[in-house]
Amino acid sequence: MKIIRCKDYADMSRKAANIISAQVILKPNAKLGLATGTTPIGAYQQLIKWYEKDDVDFAEVSTYNLDEYRGLSHDDPQSYHYFMRDNFFDHININLDNTHVPDGSNPNAEEACAEYDALVKAAGYVDLQLLGIGNNGHIGFNEPDEAFSKGTHCVDLTESTIKANSRLFEREEDVPRQAYTMGVQTIMRAKMILVVANGSAKQQAVYDMVYGPVTPRVPASILQLHTNCILVADEEALGMCPA
Ligand code: GLP
Repeated sequence: MKIIRCKDYADMSRKAANIISAQVILKPNAKLGLATGTTPIGAYQQLIKWYEKDDVDFAEVSTYNLDEYRGLSHDDPQSYHYFMRDNFFDHININLDNTHVPDGSNPNAEEACAEYDALVKAAGYVDLQLLGIGNNGHIGFNEPDEAFSKGTHCVDLTESTIKANSRLFEREEDVPRQAYTMGVQTIMRAKMILVVANGSAKQQAVYDMVYGPVTPRVPASILQLHTNCILVADEEALGMCPA
């Protein structure tokens, strides 16, 4: 895994945006795997600025998001559908028909997951997958488990994830208890993986991802086996890692 050390959140966001925009410049019809969470917001904001300056063009890009809460409609402000439009898609020239997020509004988990899997597979998987990391080492919503997951599936969120994500909801009870997420095997099929991490709360997860044993107890640790994985992280997140 290549590690790019950044001064702070702004530096991390710019460097991550640079890598994403390079991908789009090199391949205008790139397939991007995208992530939610607060970490990538700065990178999305930077990409929007470059789009406004005519430096990057998303007209032919298609996107595949990692995950979605089960039970939220697309226009629910807490849904990842809404998040992506609000933080990125509504501000660039992407064709919304080419943006994809698992369908959390479909209560039939098996059907929703199988449909999403078929979609990502038909696309030939993504060129670049952007990933954040949860405090417990989760990627997408792949929580610590006994085995690495494969395709898109429905997960029960752990207490720690519900607690961490509750900061974005009015009350902790409002956080959905389940989500549909791309599996670890699908994530690993991306040609390139770009992980972003900032802040001291991520120190342990980042250390375990890069230096710990490869184990489904820390889902992100499997990224050690990817041949083209880049970690762009600030000093705080890298606080436990050797300089
Ligand atoms: C959620 C998302 C993940 C994200 C994680 C960390 O659980 N499903 O994709 O990486 O939160 O979020 P944040 O970047 O806000 O710390």
